[in-house]
Formats: sequence, structure tokens, C-alpha cells
Amino acid sequence: MIPLFKVSMSESATGAATQVLTSGHVGQGPKVAEFEQALAERIGNPNVVTVNSATSGLHLALHLVAGAAADGTGEVLSTPLTFEATNFSILANRLRVRWVDVDPDTLNVDLDDLARKITPATRAIMVVHFAGYPVDLARLTGILDQAEAKFGFRPVVIEDCAHAWGATYRGRELGTHGNISVFSFQALKHLTCVDGGLIVFPDEAMAKRARLLRWFGIDRTADRLRNAPDVAEYGFKFHLTDLNAAIGLANLSEVDDVLHKHRENAAYYDRHLAGVAGLRLTERAAERNSSHWVYPVLVENRDAFVKRMDEAGIMVSQVHERNDKHECLREFSALLPGMDHVAERMVCLPVGWWLSEQDRRQIVETIAAGW
Ligand SMILES: Cc1ncc(COP(=O)(O)O)c(C=O)c1O
Repeated sequence: MIPLFKVSMSESATGAATQVLTSGHVGQGPKVAEFEQALAERIGNPNVVTVNSATSGLHLALHLVAGAAADGTGEVLSTPLTFEATNFSILANRLRVRWVDVDPDTLNVDLDDLARKITPATRAIMVVHFAGYPVDLARLTGILDQAEAKFGFRPVVIEDCAHAWGATYRGRELGTHGNISVFSFQALKHLTCVDGGLIVFPDEAMAKRARLLRWFGIDRTADRLRNAPDVAEYGFKFHLTDLNAAIGLANLSEVDDVLHKHRENAAYYDRHLAGVAGLRLTERAAERNSSHWVYPVLVENRDAFVKRMDEAGIMVSQVHERNDKHECLREFSALLPGMDHVAERMVCLPVGWWLSEQDRRQIVETIAAGW
């Protein structure tokens, strides 16, 4: 079976992990600081804060901008086409979800629908760069400008970049466009720590508060034996460990090769799948360079397509179920024609670094032969 996902683990990760395990310091310490320094340089933004998962990162980011002051009435605009972590962070912060429809061309939020749904109750906007294809961030900034002119406040945008390590918008890394960005280093992502995450902030003050709140609100740099610091604001246990950071650092040195292979495979599909009857490719804009975590397509007669791929030994999947149909989110249900269209047709193909020349040819030939 050609897998849809595979763990990308550098051979040097074993030695790096062993070194930490025998060092006498396995919790958050110097390796986390080193990893953060490397991530800041790579992204081009010093305001980075590692956490133990993107789930924790989304929870903490939303807590900082809205959750800490939530009274049960605030809304967060969000997409139903994502992993549950995106939307459960809204529930965990005692905020309400307002669904924004999905654009079938990009699989990201429909920005026209988003612009219509901003109201005085909007506390934040959650967008997902689905499969690593960046949301049109300049247009989103324009929508925020209009909201500010109309309502007198500017909703904070949290970009869920869990699929999007290495993706760029207008030539600059995600995490440098003025919003809060959250990355995942979970096992199946381009860059893995086994489990881990990163929040990238637009300013130092927010990053400083997040550094406190990721570990109970307690200042880890203070001398707690002689002069225990006061805790002004309660926090969480969301910090990354040196063990995970060492594994992340080892993988960071190879992630550009991984990313390059995903992009090469995607370009191959772009060339060879265009024009196949019953199959629609998603948008490619020159200014939005996707990380191609997976390769989503919209197909007619999806059940037959999946069966045909299964028979050919090619693993495909929807990857994420639409979130708005879950019982725990049903009270927020809305008419979402774009999501309905996508829910019946979307399927993701393997596109990762592990595909051989023969694998990707087999995938293209199987699809081109019809289903
Ligand atoms: C879109 C999206 N957001 C958030 C997450 C959560 O990431 P983590 O497993 O690092 O908590 C995932 C995980 O796959 C995801 O796909």
C-alpha cells in the first residue's frame, strides 16, 4: 500500500535524543531555547513560543486574546473543514463558534462569507491554511481594515498553520504577516518533535505573556528558592521538553529537503492530473506557495474513486471530517453550501517525500484510467 502519511525522522534524532536522556535535564531547558532560536531565525520573527502541541498553542493563543475575558457571549469565526483541535480550542475557551463557509477552490475559508459575518460579537478569527495552501492574507487584512472602520475594533486573526510548515505568502514565511500563527510538530507533519507546537506572535509583549502562561504563569527564570515570584495570572502546563526539542532540532536540519519533495510531487500531479474527467484540482496562485502536506482533489463519485484507489494499493482519505456536524458543535450549525459541496467530493492523495518515481506514476495512471 502506498501510504498517505509517513513519519519523517532524521537519523541524527536518535543520538540527539539519547544525549538529552543521559544529560540529567529532560524537561524544558537549554534545548528548548536552542530550538526556539533556530525556529525564530528560520521563520524570520523573534517572537516564537514553543508548546507541547498545536492544540495547546491554539488554546493558549485564544486564551490570550479572548478566552481569559470570556463571558460566554463572544464569537470566533472559524472553518468547519479542519481537524477538531481548531474548533475545540474555541469551546475550551468558553467562546461560541460562528461558521464561515469553505471556498471549494482553495478549501480555505470563503473570505466573502467571512467579511459578512464579522459583528460586534466577534472576538477572534480562526483561519486554517488547508493542506498548506495559504489563505489570501492581504485580502484578509483588507477585511479587518473595513471591520475596524465599521465597528471601531480589529478582530485578532489566529492562523492555524498545522499543515503549513514552510508555506509562504508573497515570498514571506507564514508567521510574519501580523497575525498569531500556530504550527504543529506532531508525528505526521513535515517537521516533527514526536509531539510539539509553536506559536508565533506579531509582538514581544504577547510572546512574553505566552511564555509565562505556557507554564502555570510562573516565571521560570526567577530564583524560586530564595524569592518565590507572585503569579499574577494563572496559566497551563503546555511547555515543550528538551527531549522533544532535540528531536525537532535534528529534523529541522532536513526539513527543507522534505518540503522540496512534497512540492515536486505536487507539481507532477498538477501537470498530469489537469483535465482528468470528473476530477477538479484546487487553486494555485503564484504568490501563495503551499507546503503540500497532502494533495486534496474534488472528485465526482467519490466512493467509486476511493474503492478504485484501494484496489490499486493507494491510500487516500478525507483526512478531516467536517466539524460542524459533531454533536458538541451542533448548536452553531449554519447553511454552508461550499462546505456541503466539498464534503461530498474532497479526497486527499499521498504527495509526500516517500513517493518514488514509480509510485507517483502509478497514482497518476490509476486516476487517469478512470473510476
Ligand atoms: C488543522 C489542524 N490544526 C490543529 C492540529 C493539532 O495539532 P497537534 O496534533 O500538534 O495538537 C492539527 C493536527 O493534525 C491539524 O491538522
